Amino acid sequence: MEEGPFGGSCRFPGQGIFAYLNYLTPKSRREILELLVNGLKRLEYRGYDSAGVALDTPDGKDIAIVKKSGKVKALQDEIVSKGESLQIDLSTDCHVGIAHTRWATHGVPSEVNSHPQRSDVGHSFVVVHNGIVTNYKDVKLFLEKKGYCFESETDTEIIAKLIHHLYTQHPNYSFRELVEQVIQQLEGAFALAFKSRHFPGECVATRRGSPLLVGIKAKTRLATDHIPILYSKDHRPHGRGDMPILPRSDSTAEFQPLEDKEIEYFFASDASAVIEHTNRVIFLEDDDVAAVKDGMLSIHRLRRSLDDSHSREIITLKMEIQQIMKGNYSSFMQKEIFEQPESVVNTMRGRVNFEDNSVILGGIKEYIPEVRRCRRLMLIGCGTSYHSAIATRQLLEELTELPVVVELASDFLDRNTPVFRDDVCFFISQSGETADTLMALRYCKNRGALIIGITNTVGSSICRESHCGVHINAGPEIGVASTKAYTSQFVSLVMFALVMSEDRISHQQRRAEIFNGLKHIDEQIREVLKLDEEVSKLAKDLYTHKSLLIMGRGYNFSTCLEGALKVKELAYMHSEGIMAGELKHGPLALVDKAMPVIMIVTRDPVYVKCMNALQQVTAREGRPIVICEKGDTETQSFSSKTLEVPHTVDCLQGLLTVIPMQLLSYHIAVLRGYNVDCPRNLAKSVTVE
Ligand code: M6R
Repeated sequence: MEEGPFGGSCRFPGQGIFAYLNYLTPKSRREILELLVNGLKRLEYRGYDSAGVALDTPDGKDIAIVKKSGKVKALQDEIVSKGESLQIDLSTDCHVGIAHTRWATHGVPSEVNSHPQRSDVGHSFVVVHNGIVTNYKDVKLFLEKKGYCFESETDTEIIAKLIHHLYTQHPNYSFRELVEQVIQQLEGAFALAFKSRHFPGECVATRRGSPLLVGIKAKTRLATDHIPILYSKDHRPHGRGDMPILPRSDSTAEFQPLEDKEIEYFFASDASAVIEHTNRVIFLEDDDVAAVKDGMLSIHRLRRSLDDSHSREIITLKMEIQQIMKGNYSSFMQKEIFEQPESVVNTMRGRVNFEDNSVILGGIKEYIPEVRRCRRLMLIGCGTSYHSAIATRQLLEELTELPVVVELASDFLDRNTPVFRDDVCFFISQSGETADTLMALRYCKNRGALIIGITNTVGSSICRESHCGVHINAGPEIGVASTKAYTSQFVSLVMFALVMSEDRISHQQRRAEIFNGLKHIDEQIREVLKLDEEVSKLAKDLYTHKSLLIMGRGYNFSTCLEGALKVKELAYMHSEGIMAGELKHGPLALVDKAMPVIMIVTRDPVYVKCMNALQQVTAREGRPIVICEKGDTETQSFSSKTLEVPHTVDCLQGLLTVIPMQLLSYHIAVLRGYNVDCPRNLAKSVTVE
């Protein structure tokens, strides 16, 4: 990858951790609560069925937990209503607060199932958790035998109770050591942040298979850009059934503090929650245990492995808060659609040189000779990311002259697809955390293929586990529906095709056309966005319908698939992207005067075939709405309504034809009264298989 670290693993749908520790930094309890709630709001897009916070009670002797089903706003209202008992005007110099947004995986969305989960009514330990503990039943059984009673249906509660149990057995263990003991007993994937009544002012966080980062805001300049890893002494292998208590872990290295005064720490599932406070972050790796005590951060690991680095780097994020705010738009999705003129330019920035028609992809440059020698290219992703592969396959075949295989990650895994050392596998993912894509990546990596990540998320698992890659640089995409990531993935893959063909004389003319197309693509997208009003009127004609067919072929087929996916996920309306060449093989039977049909017909090599399809539809009394090129009167004569987009080179036309479909799905969803940023049953990062 061009920036950010490597390493890491996978994320779970709709769960967000945010923890805040202020050391020698006076804050009122009101400020702390606002900070926690705002952190959750930034993470809310990841999951939103319930939320909770834990902070010290005003006398510092207990932990107060406030939890609420529903949106973070409901939690905020609950906190306000409890304002007096929480004594929000009291100030504190050192404090730890932990917070969580939950998307139910074990147990219904309810207050009792929300996080933080507690060890006991005395709140010895409280924990917030992302992920799924797969062996929670075994651990629960073990703890029940020890006399623990459970109040929630969650897998998380076993973590809170297990650490309590360990604490009662080993009261001399440090907080960090207790957490190390706990995670050795857990199977599955998790990110965790702990707070304890017994360890005031301390916070311990860890991850395995779910992302977690530490944000650092220091009053004075940090003395180092790297936090050394401290290793704990080896432990006996762990078992499950009778839950052996492991020997105490002693650090083999000296405790090396990052900073010792006036410092604030943030633990969060992703950078959007911390960026308004600090841009200095450490992405934790699987099994890192990060502990803050007396204002000092240390990172520990239980075992050394061969590819371990000796430290964790403090990275400076370039993301800006404005990038994650809605601005004047009514939703993140709308904002992200309208950002595309800029986001595609950002994808090309510093890479495409329009003066000499060259592209440099710094993140994969050194691997290009190896890629040129490969047997085939495999493009693997899910949903929209998969569609970006479909959109660019034809061009990749043309310019690389290699076989190009496009795979849905889930299906690819189901088939145990043969993969070889001389394959080059691309993993395309906005979040960089999609479980199926990540599993497919590991599958291919184990078989010796070269792994190239195409992601939008610096520090994500796919980015970290790839050999090399391209960040699409579209900026944070908050709306669950992927829009600007699609066009940026598309452009990234086009850039790769251009790199691969730079030495081929026979491709020079074609390349020149593409460079020219890319040069003007931002202004053309801007022009397409002006169709918004027209599309919104069209949505009024369509939004009461039950179904919408979207047909096209060649370079525009991906727009059909992507348009139909957007309509389904946002408007909860049946929609199908149909390969126009398949019409006669079945789908034509669906066409009559009542069935809404959208056809995409542009002046490319399959234009005549598309016109045939269009006529087949009108011959069945279909009244297709056509997305076509400006001034194409021939196509327009067969349509009931047209949306005209500017002409660009055929292989880039999909960057323009997809935009009316994004707008249309958005308007239909709004007319149907749905929340376009958070469609039902879906989450931004799908991290369960
Ligand atoms: O983060 P990813 O790109 O890996 O996500 C893959 C799909 O889950 C995603 O593209 C999904 O299809 C979108 N929500 C569709 O708008």
